[in-house]
Amino acid sequence: MNRLYTADVPDKADIEYALSLQYPAQMAELFAFADEIRRRYIGDGILLRGIVEFSNNCDNTCKYCGLNKTNTNLKRYKLTDRQILNCIEQIAGAGIGTVVLQSGEQAELDPNWFAGLIREIKTRFDIAITLSVGERTFDDYALWKEAGADRYLLKIETTNRQLYQNLHPQMSFDNRLKCSRDLKTLGYQNGSGSIIGLAGQTISDIADDILFFAGEQFDMLGIGPFIPHPATALSDCPPGGVEMVLKTIAVTRIITKDAHIPATTAIGSLNGNDYRPDALIAGANVLMPNFTPQPWRQLYEIYPGKRCVTEAPGTCGQCIDMMANAIGRTIDLSRGDSLKKKRNKCA
Ligand code: SAM
Ligand code: FES
Repeated sequence: MNRLYTADVPDKADIEYALSLQYPAQMAELFAFADEIRRRYIGDGILLRGIVEFSNNCDNTCKYCGLNKTNTNLKRYKLTDRQILNCIEQIAGAGIGTVVLQSGEQAELDPNWFAGLIREIKTRFDIAITLSVGERTFDDYALWKEAGADRYLLKIETTNRQLYQNLHPQMSFDNRLKCSRDLKTLGYQNGSGSIIGLAGQTISDIADDILFFAGEQFDMLGIGPFIPHPATALSDCPPGGVEMVLKTIAVTRIITKDAHIPATTAIGSLNGNDYRPDALIAGANVLMPNFTPQPWRQLYEIYPGKRCVTEAPGTCGQCIDMMANAIGRTIDLSRGDSLKKKRNKCA
């Protein structure tokens, strides 16, 4: 663990060793070490990001995702500007300093409409904006940055090119990587991440993902389990294992040190259990309460059994407070900007 922590470029064999730990006592030691690094670099505050899933329209055919366009049974929606702004009013009203605007990926999303919405949000609310609408052109990303967007989430999902290609038949790994690097060039606080437990994924692949995260110096990293969706090609595959997700979060924390790492909704929805507290004591420091209004929230069904899917928006507050209390942590309502940029500026 100390070698992972101190090495400029960690040894892949050390990462694989940590990811292979099986005995509960050894895993507990790994999680405790990661938790201590989290405390040292970030503190005890759990940052909140209010998420608004403003459309489930998608042109892609990602084999694991319930929103993929071949799922013709799914009723599609797009919220109006007024509905989106209402959600943001609730997020700002709850004192939360960041909104995440997420949707499927669709060519029809008008970049100028989106830029106008971003401008309006920035005029009306003192809030950081994270976008997560998939792969776009450099010019679109530039337009939205110029309009006031602060951050972008574009998970690489897996760094195994062959596996990536199998799972995303119409997409290109190189383009995803290009988009991710374009976002960094444009000065976005840049987020990536991976899905754990994809069929065919090995420990070596996950170790490569972590080395990629470290090499690209991401500001935010979302790591969650694969959860099979019945209307997808992977419906019969088993879900990702909670222990492997927690080990990946822990090793990512130890190596990247101050990246913002959410306890993802997926780890809160695995096999009907809420493992977010486990993630928060294994290196994670962010929660993402859902502010998508009903009935649309139930239609953003990436995978079945998604946490809080039947709740009214804004009801997550109490549950989140209890979760923080139970593990001796506090809720941090600030914008929660990248700590990396601050550290780099100080260096
Ligand atoms: N369209 C955007 C994009 O491609 O980045 C964002 C929306 S996409 C639904 C958000 C994330 O959902 C993906 O990055 C993927 O990791 C996750 N996801 C989709 N299907 C999943 C599944 N079956 N199990 C776990 N995570 C899944
Ligand atoms: Fe498009 Fe998942 S396939 S959001």
